[in-house]
Amino acid sequence: MSKPVHLLSALVFAGLLFAGSLGAADQCLICHTGQGDKPSALFRHDVHFLKGIPCSGCHGGNPNAAEVEQAMNPKEGFIGVPKGDNVSRMCAACHSDSARMRRLGSSLPTDQLESLQSSVHGRLSISGSERLARCTTCHGAHGIRRVKDPLSPVSPLNVVRTCAHCHSNAAFMRMYNPSLAVDQVEKYRTSVHGTRNAKGDVKVAECASCHGSHDIHSAKDVKSRVYPTNIPSTCSTCHGNAAYMVEYHIPTDQFEKFSKSVHGVALLQKGDLGAPACNSCHGNHGAAPPGIESVSKVCGSCHALNADLFSASPHKKVFDEADLPECETCHGNHEIVAATDKLLGVTPEAVCSQCHSPEENPRGYAAARLMRQLTDSLQSSEKRAASLVSEAEQKGMEISEAKFKLRDARQARMQARTMVHAFDPKKFEEVADRGLGVAGVVQVEAQQSVDEYYFRRVGLLAATLIITTLAVSLYLLIRRIERKQRALNHVGRRT
Ligand code: HEC
Ligand code: HEC
Ligand code: HEC
Ligand code: HEC
Ligand code: HEC
Ligand code: HEC
Ligand code: HEC
Ligand code: HEC
Ligand code: HEC
Ligand code: HEC
Ligand code: HEC
Repeated sequence: MSKPVHLLSALVFAGLLFAGSLGAADQCLICHTGQGDKPSALFRHDVHFLKGIPCSGCHGGNPNAAEVEQAMNPKEGFIGVPKGDNVSRMCAACHSDSARMRRLGSSLPTDQLESLQSSVHGRLSISGSERLARCTTCHGAHGIRRVKDPLSPVSPLNVVRTCAHCHSNAAFMRMYNPSLAVDQVEKYRTSVHGTRNAKGDVKVAECASCHGSHDIHSAKDVKSRVYPTNIPSTCSTCHGNAAYMVEYHIPTDQFEKFSKSVHGVALLQKGDLGAPACNSCHGNHGAAPPGIESVSKVCGSCHALNADLFSASPHKKVFDEADLPECETCHGNHEIVAATDKLLGVTPEAVCSQCHSPEENPRGYAAARLMRQLTDSLQSSEKRAASLVSEAEQKGMEISEAKFKLRDARQARMQARTMVHAFDPKKFEEVADRGLGVAGVVQVEAQQSVDEYYFRRVGLLAATLIITTLAVSLYLLIRRIERKQRALNHVGRRT
């Protein structure tokens, strides 16, 4: 032992004797310090020691007795060294008892054991007799520090190592869950969060800020803070807090924008897990934010067709050269709204107008105008076809085939919206023409049905007329015959 440490222990020892002279001295600590054991050495920095809680606060026994037999007597409540789940129960004796914690002058939450037991770490360990993690797994047993203390194993700068102790140990993790990756820390160290954390920034996200501490659940569990629908609010505890983020000079409106975007509405309101959450674009542990290059790849992981068309388009090269992001340039990132035909064309609200005019990049200008015209006529001819089909249907005409074809026309219009991304007026025209053709056929067929309906109505009217005329004539004829008969009878009676 070095001199300063000797001096320190002597001071602490003296301090303890002094404290002892005020109240009851912790004989456990005094005797154990004399033996130079590890627990008593560590205990000097322990939050419990600083709070005046003696060794017996956890181990039981009589702290006023100087004799081993009496001090560490089970009759005095000595429980010795706890094993397995008894460790957590030992801590919970105070930490789950809010009245006791209040008496000890603490207002800490008292849900740690309950949360831990229902967490993914509360499952049984391989031995089957105890839980996977106990309080001491993350906090240690002697020398427990406040979370804010930089030396605490769960402080922002150290917690990564604490989690990595298991999560970067492939052999250990395989015993529990062979499908779980063990590269989180490695990836984390490449992210903006991880690199800043390694340099001592305590405000960036670490394992516990995204996953929680005692209430950690599998990412597939809806209770998890990293379950897709919970992620946006997890990230925005920091990223939506302007005061917290002030020193970083980056926007704090991502959640606000995202929640109104087509993706945010799909994820948060419709519960569509196919829509991206923050991590779908930014990664979980890996590099964040995605560079301009990788963002398009991210969009393409879901919108594959758009990305493929774009890559083969004339814009690919010009956007790359101008260092413009591929999809974001026209759609934005957090505020992406449903795409409409208004984006296309040469009106001021169309994205094309940002770069194309009769003077500037005129070929694209001509293309944008043509594509918009085609889209508009596609839309109106589909609308006309649809209204004729519904008219025929209301009149009770059999129209299922035209209705089926109408779906083809709609599909062609959808394909045309995607085909925009080829930025090739010829290819666009091909798809649009197919849609216009089908819509035209549907219009004709539906019109014929409607016409037929009217034709049948005219026919019916004529038939009714003829039948009525016939009936009336027949009636009149019968009447005439009857009258004649009566006249004959009359003449007969007179004769
Ligand atoms: C007079 C000295 C002395 C006092 C007082 C004393 N201990 Fe000990 N304690 C020892 C010694 C020596 C051992 C090691 C005995 C052994 O290994 O069997 C020990 C062992 C322990 C152990 C480990 C037991 C085990 O099963 O491995 C615990 C826990 C412990 N003491 C806690 C306490 C607590 C709590 C108090 C006060 C209530 C206390 N001691 C008071 C000397 C003392
Ligand atoms: C906050 C609760 C707590 C306090 C206070 C505490 N201990 Fe412990 N102690 C434990 C736990 C829990 C273990 C079991 C070891 C583990 O799980 O790492 C333990 C284990 C021990 C052991 C067994 C050897 C070892 O290192 O595991 C000894 C000896 C011991 N404590 C002595 C003491 C002494 C002496 C004090 C006071 C200076 C003390 N303890 C204060 C919780 C506590
Ligand atoms: C005798 C009651 C008691 C027992 C038993 C006990 N604690 Fe505590 N613990 C406290 C009190 C009281 C505080 C609050 C100290 C303060 O606010 O200054 C505390 C504080 C803590 C803190 C620091 C929280 C913070 O402010 O950041 C941690 C961590 C902790 N205890 C963990 C444990 C663990 C782990 C065990 C079991 C090995 C344990 N405690 C056993 C009473 C206890
Ligand atoms: C998987 C690791 C892990 C385990 C196991 C664990 N803790 Fe914690 N604990 C943490 C982390 C991380 C924090 C810091 C939380 C934060 O930064 O908000 C923490 C914080 C605390 C605090 C400070 C107040 C709070 O609730 O945030 C107390 C007290 C505490 N733990 C007690 C316990 C007790 C008691 C147990 C056992 C029932 C336990 N912990 C088990 C990781 C753990
Ligand atoms: C004692 C070793 C150990 C420690 C320490 C530990 N973990 Fe775990 N953790 C595991 C094991 C084992 C599993 C797998 C359990 C299972 O799948 O049943 C797991 C599961 C998880 C899962 C769920 C993974 C999934 O999606 O299925 C997350 C998240 C997690 N741990 C995060 C953390 C964080 C954050 C920390 C640090 C605060 C931490 N762990 C500390 C052993 C540990
Ligand atoms: C910025 C937030 C964030 C941080 C920091 C973070 N995680 Fe994660 N973690 C996630 C997200 C989001 C997922 C869910 C991935 C998914 O849905 O598949 C995840 C998944 C996991 C899983 C499940 C297996 C896997 O890799 O998908 C484990 C285990 C895990 N994290 C451990 C850790 C550990 C250990 C750390 C600290 C080095 C950490 N995480 C840091 C957000 C984070
Ligand atoms: C504990 C707070 C905290 C949490 C939780 C958090 N972050 Fe961060 N994040 C930060 C801080 C602080 C920075 C550093 C800002 C900087 O350096 O520009 C940062 C940086 C980033 C950056 C890089 C910004 C840039 O351009 O420099 C991205 C992207 C990011 N976080 C995304 C996320 C995502 C996605 C989540 C959720 C899965 C998340 N963060 C969770 C605090 C947090
Ligand atoms: C659809 C993909 C996508 C989603 C979802 C997404 N982002 Fe982004 N984010 C981006 C792109 C693209 C950038 C700009 C990157 C660049 O310019 O290098 C960005 C930039 C950022 C930045 C840097 C500062 C800024 O605003 O430019 C932060 C921080 C950030 N995002 C956080 C989040 C958070 C938090 C969420 C969830 C609420 C989220 N992002 C959701 C794609 C996305
Ligand atoms: C030069 C501007 C521009 C770029 C770059 C661009 N888009 Fe589009 N995008 C549009 C326009 C215009 C529409 C609307 C078409 C319509 O509704 O008539 C659209 C529509 C969409 C649609 C809805 C139609 C469909 O295909 O389902 C998606 C999804 C889409 N874009 C994704 C992307 C992706 C992914 C990228 C990057 C690979 C990208 N866009 C790049 C202009 C652009
Ligand atoms: C995780 C998959 C995923 C990722 C990544 C993703 N999206 Fe989407 N996106 C969707 C889903 C699902 C929808 C449909 C949402 C709805 O309307 O229900 C959608 C809708 C859209 C729409 C509106 C389509 C329409 O018909 O109007 C556009 C535009 C769009 N995304 C562009 C992008 C861009 C640009 C990126 C990259 C910055 C991106 N998306 C990343 C899944 C994703
Ligand atoms: C960020 C600027 C920018 C935006 C936005 C943009 N373009 Fe372009 N586009 C260019 C540049 C630069 C060229 C290459 C110069 C040229 O050929 O006119 C180009 C070329 C084209 C070409 C190829 C012309 C040819 O025959 O070589 C077409 C087609 C085109 N754009 C259509 C569009 C359409 C449609 C939109 C809107 C949906 C659009 N562009 C939006 C910058 C842009």
